[in-house]
Amino acid sequence: MTSTAVTPIPKVDYTTTPHPSGVQALSLKDAPALIESLLPVQKLSIDVYKERMAGSGQTLTALGSYWKGRKPLVLNRACVLASLLPVTDNPIKDLEVFELLMGMDDVSMSKRLARAKPEEIVRTAKIPDIHAYFVVDPPGHYVPSSAPFNVNDYPYLKNGREIAPKLRWRSDVSETKQHEVAALTFEFDTYHDLAADAKRAEEVGDELSSHIWTRVNQHLGTNAFSFPELVEQLGVMRFGHRPTVADTFSGSGQIPFAAAQLGCDVYASDLNPVACMLTWGAFNIVGASVERRQAIEREQSELVARVKAEIDALGIESDGNGWRGKVYLYCLEVTCPSSGWKVPVLPTRMVSKSKSVYAKLVSVPTEKRYDIELVSDATAAEMKAAEQGTYRKGDVVHFVNGVEHVNSIASIRGDYTEMVHGKKVKRNRLRMWDKSDVVFRADDIFSERLYAIQWIKELPEGDTGRAPTEYRTVTQSDLDRESRVTAYVQAHLAEWQDKGWVPDTRIEPGDKTDEPIRTRGWTHWHHLFNPRQLLSFGLINSGRTAAGFINLGGALNYSARLSRWAWQRDTINSIFDNQALNTIYNYGCRGLIYTLGPYLSNYASTPLLGSVRVISSPANAIDYCSDVFITDPPYGDAVKYEEILEFFIAWLRRNPPAEFSNWTWDSRRELAVKGEDHDFRLSMVAAYKRMAECMPDNGIQILMFTHQDGNIWADMANIVWASGLRVTAAWYLVTETDSALREGSYVKGTILLVLRKRLGAKRTNQTDLAYELEDEVAEQIQRLTGMNDTVASDSKRAKDGNLFEDADLQMAGYAAALKVLTKYSIIDGKDMAQEALRPRVPGQKTLVESLIDFATDTSNKMLVPLGLDESVWHELEPAERFYLKMLEQESHGLNKLDNYQNFAKAFAVRNFSALMANEHANKAALRSAQDFGRAEMNQSSELYQTPTRAVLYALMDLQAGKDLDVVIKGLEQNLKVGAFYSSRDLLVAIARFIGKKVEVMRPDEASAARVLADGIENQRM
Ligand SMILES: C[S@@+](CC[C@H](N)C(=O)[O-])C[C@H]1O[C@@H](n2cnc3c(N)ncnc32)[C@H](O)[C@@H]1O
Repeated sequence: MTSTAVTPIPKVDYTTTPHPSGVQALSLKDAPALIESLLPVQKLSIDVYKERMAGSGQTLTALGSYWKGRKPLVLNRACVLASLLPVTDNPIKDLEVFELLMGMDDVSMSKRLARAKPEEIVRTAKIPDIHAYFVVDPPGHYVPSSAPFNVNDYPYLKNGREIAPKLRWRSDVSETKQHEVAALTFEFDTYHDLAADAKRAEEVGDELSSHIWTRVNQHLGTNAFSFPELVEQLGVMRFGHRPTVADTFSGSGQIPFAAAQLGCDVYASDLNPVACMLTWGAFNIVGASVERRQAIEREQSELVARVKAEIDALGIESDGNGWRGKVYLYCLEVTCPSSGWKVPVLPTRMVSKSKSVYAKLVSVPTEKRYDIELVSDATAAEMKAAEQGTYRKGDVVHFVNGVEHVNSIASIRGDYTEMVHGKKVKRNRLRMWDKSDVVFRADDIFSERLYAIQWIKELPEGDTGRAPTEYRTVTQSDLDRESRVTAYVQAHLAEWQDKGWVPDTRIEPGDKTDEPIRTRGWTHWHHLFNPRQLLSFGLINSGRTAAGFINLGGALNYSARLSRWAWQRDTINSIFDNQALNTIYNYGCRGLIYTLGPYLSNYASTPLLGSVRVISSPANAIDYCSDVFITDPPYGDAVKYEEILEFFIAWLRRNPPAEFSNWTWDSRRELAVKGEDHDFRLSMVAAYKRMAECMPDNGIQILMFTHQDGNIWADMANIVWASGLRVTAAWYLVTETDSALREGSYVKGTILLVLRKRLGAKRTNQTDLAYELEDEVAEQIQRLTGMNDTVASDSKRAKDGNLFEDADLQMAGYAAALKVLTKYSIIDGKDMAQEALRPRVPGQKTLVESLIDFATDTSNKMLVPLGLDESVWHELEPAERFYLKMLEQESHGLNKLDNYQNFAKAFAVRNFSALMANEHANKAALRSAQDFGRAEMNQSSELYQTPTRAVLYALMDLQAGKDLDVVIKGLEQNLKVGAFYSSRDLLVAIARFIGKKVEVMRPDEASAARVLADGIENQRM
């Protein structure tokens, strides 16, 4: 396996030269990193969500919105910082400093909210002496000296009018102090509330962190006044030099870009050249210096002007009256087998909702075909009728002389199946296109026709107003222009393919690439583009500049035979919205001016300081070293990058610009990490083994992956093992869902595994492992809940709720299991690195899986609900634990069924359905005391004779108005014989707990619970 030789990033070695800041090289050499001890996952999830919701406003998205699965910059930044920061003996201070660095503290939040407005501050903040901060305008005018108050309540008279006084900051109040005062208004706002209105930290710029450095330096012993300085000093303290961060699965470059923004030296590599190109763009366009950016923009404007002149000279896009074609709409046409008519295949006849335009099919019986006329300003009834087209659920439908003809596309295409090597393969009678084809041939089953054009008025030079647009029926002149385009492209195709301006490669069959071949007969990538598109993109691509290449990728995503026309919004949707290459019956084609839009894209600009290298290499063959690796490998076939990106590679592969010429312009499908089976594990191991080799002994890795199912943990343990690594921590973040609020423990999110090299060859056996696992789980959970308690006792922090939720604590179980397991090389005499690579036997649980199950069960059992004493918890049966735990969750409004399922599994409840009133996915709920009625009282129930069931029964009776003494007698009888007297404390605790948890949901049951608890207690006195 080969990889491109990499010019190493030069480093100053501060183990031999003192660092100018005075920090001591290698003083943190073996210190655990912050991310191995804590991470404020809740706040981070909120910021991740904010970044995701920014959509196209995300910093790097404009470089290639077709790239799916971008890892948010804020998460990547957190990973870099938390890998470099040390853990100290003061975790709360560690947390504070981390939050300062992430712009999560109150002062930063005030800056993110631009909140330092005096009149707003005094309206809500408690300030004993406002004159310490503000001067009143007009001077001497009375306002109260202590806030809160509303300035509008203290007006002064000017020219007979009441005017509210103004407050101005005193000149001796620093900007930081202003924000500190502004932050007093946050007393009741949670981080979640505040973040909703705030800018993202990265949007504020350097002033966001101007207030943090003294506190940061004090805590860390550094001498830094910017991120690059801090990162360098932490790197020197840990590794002896400015730290290097690498990502071997760089994709769109989100991880390496975040590291470079912080000032790290960065290596970014990927197998796929499109990924390398986007990463390059992140560094060299978004991250370019101001001068370089201006040069790129000049170069792109020149390109646009040149291509426009060439198209104008051909006269194929203008109507000759000052209007240009903006969007051309095409549809397939087929010959209806039952009528012999040529019928346009239109899933809808709608053309534009905003302009009330639809396509009217006008019969031409003499020629057995339809003209298509556009009707503008149509009535609502006409538009409604036009929603239906000739294509309906797989059929082509039209009427001739009142007779309906319905024929399926499948029958028109001649679909059939054939057995090939015992497998059914779909075939049809479509002609497979030749390399020289650009349009369907006359005798093909399908043909294609232009059926509408959206025109845009050309405005005079310098007029930046909004140009009017209109839709028009296709005329003979339009068709003549179409023929000219086709003829021109046919005449030049071979030459352009030769020069690499348009694609010349075959579409390799595959999961995602089969569809265009099978459903249209398109065999080469250029067949996915019509002549007009080939002409525009071919001319643009003749420019072959690096930025131009990146822009071309963006433009291709919006104009191909696969681009869906969105008549609801007068726009063309992007092809890669669903990460597939779906063929469609009608599509939109951008005119040149519209196509050239992205070429003048206003990309974000954040010049970078560190050194960066982009390398085209499979992860298992990298030839560079790095202190930190942060990676997000493909998992579970989420996106088949190696197939779908061939759509772009086909355009870019020949004669790439110098910057990209060392890369392998091929998707190298066979080398891609993919799937989730044995081969996936082998290729992951090869990659992570190589990274472990290329990392110093005190190096650190963060491996990100999307949470899927239980098996993944065993997979990951095996991969880590066989790669010579060990897990030191695991974190769970909500990243993929539309809600950053925890809705249950199995919400789709991202897991961060923190990895170190496994040094030495430790041995253990299963028995010792079990004890160690139990201890580790207990320690992790106690540590996290301990931090929750500390936070809860801090008046400022308490409002944000727990630092770690149940999902994080459950995660602690997995983390503990992986941590303990992967520390050992040999278990029961077996070499685990080898054992890990053994193919799985379906249906058989491996040792690793059993140990992981054991650890997670242990952790789940420790999840004592808040408000219940641990001693009570330990006396309960599994079904009782489940009931009381879920009651606690319901009291927080958590009603996701998967959460109930997970806890039922964790607590070993056999039939949790028996305890449920509702099992809907998002509205799951336990039975109340009344819902239970007399159910679950017999021997077959998991709640039989348990204190919890007896209490619930008693609550039902009390709510039914029964006498307390009678109810307590009944309660006695519902328990095991003689159990009542020894269980009285337990019964009281359970009743009080239920009372508290159902207070809001079921006040009557809550009041019955209080009566019962008091009753049992009084009886004892
Ligand atoms: C999940 S994506 C990474 C996404 C990236 N973190 C981002 O934010 O855009 C996985 C990447 O792994 C790359 N890849 C797949 N197999 C690879 C291999 N064997 N070596 C290197 N990269 C590979 C894919 O091309 C893809 O870019």
